[in-house]
Amino acid sequence: MSKALDGVRILDFTHVQSGPTCTQLLAWFGADVIKVERAGAGDITREQLRDIPDVDSLYFTMLNHNKRSITIDTKNPEGKQVLETLIQKCDVLVENFAPGALDRMGFTWERIQELNPRMIVASVKGFGPGPYEDCKVYENVAQCAGGAASTTGFDDGPPVVSGAQIGDSGTGLHLALGIVTALYQRTQTGRGQKVLAAMQDGVLNLCRVKLRDQQRLDRTGTMKEYPQYPNGKFGEAVPRAGNASGGGQPGWILKCKGWETDPNAYIYFITQAPVWAKICNVIGKEEWATDPAYATPAARLPHLKDIFAEIERWTMTKTKFEAMQILNKYDIPCGPILSMKEIAEEPSLRKTGTIVEVDHPTRGKYLTVGNPIKLSDSPTEVTRSPLLGEHTDEVMTELGYSPEQISALRTAGAI
Ligand code: COA
Repeated sequence: MSKALDGVRILDFTHVQSGPTCTQLLAWFGADVIKVERAGAGDITREQLRDIPDVDSLYFTMLNHNKRSITIDTKNPEGKQVLETLIQKCDVLVENFAPGALDRMGFTWERIQELNPRMIVASVKGFGPGPYEDCKVYENVAQCAGGAASTTGFDDGPPVVSGAQIGDSGTGLHLALGIVTALYQRTQTGRGQKVLAAMQDGVLNLCRVKLRDQQRLDRTGTMKEYPQYPNGKFGEAVPRAGNASGGGQPGWILKCKGWETDPNAYIYFITQAPVWAKICNVIGKEEWATDPAYATPAARLPHLKDIFAEIERWTMTKTKFEAMQILNKYDIPCGPILSMKEIAEEPSLRKTGTIVEVDHPTRGKYLTVGNPIKLSDSPTEVTRSPLLGEHTDEVMTELGYSPEQISALRTAGAI
């Protein structure tokens, strides 16, 4: 079966996490992704957090599936020429070097345009234009600068970063959308363009509800669904809201049976207004359904803490899965707190290809996350990440280099 991005050739100049997540997605959609790495070293993540000596790390393999790897020393004049040939033959160059690195290599936007006016140049940077534009940025810096850390955690504790890599993988997703959009526009204009996804912007985009709340707080001085209401104090900025739901339906994380020994024996429970009477029935507080102090969402807001304490008395008598079963029968929105171990072993996720097992020549079998975006006419088959330089000869031959030229470039240290 054909793939959505068949025929699109990507010069993948990305490293670490943010850029590689983007190009991996494009590869999953069928683009030919040629990852350019430095000979002898490669993407630094190949050797980071290794669990098997001298074998590409899971960090690397899980971000670089379905790609080809070619080694080029882009600071070597002959290597630079190979890169120029690649630029002429590719549709998109994706990079996430530190600001200015591509220019220092000699590949300014103007130079790339000269080589290939149809080329789309897509970049992840930590920040957009402004005071921090020259800074190097990693995941947690983006979470802090994009508003996630200041709004995550509990009111009486420090800012907290999330386990979800919203700065890296989140920005990679944003960039991938920018690239396919630019490819679409190119079908009308015939021209390439620059695509920039700044990590701060990507995180802020995902934190938009907190910018919403900042303005509500500015106007009214309070936010009734936050745990600070009614007894705590609000300051000038959106406070950390613990596990409050962030939407119009109050929610919280509640203990379930076994919580004393299992750190994940918890459930997320939402007191959705339309099912309030059913919630009251399930937890044995039928009188709350009609009691004016509890019957409406507005009446409940001042004592949400007590309400959740009462619901928790019920959830603590059930495992999270038992509670799920009962609550789902009544359409009460809830979700188990799943550990990574539980997720890795969940058969339904294997069945949908959301988690896949991949075989690797030096590592053996390992689990990875498959494509979370499912296209009915372009199914994803996850194939293993490439070894360093595995496809150098293959790609060089496709670019028109003869075996003798390839061998001479190798001797010169260009590839
Ligand atoms: N051949 C020769 N040189 C190469 C090369 C190749 N194939 N590939 C990269 N290089 C060089 C670059 O030219 C650059 O050299 P220079 O600094 O002399 O100009 C250098 O290798 C690497 O650049 P840099 O991006 O600065 O790497 P770093 O390890 O110091 O920094 C980051 C890593 C992630 C902090 C930085 O790249 C960054 O801020 N990126 C943008 C934001 C981002 O994506 N962050 C998230 C990462 S998950």
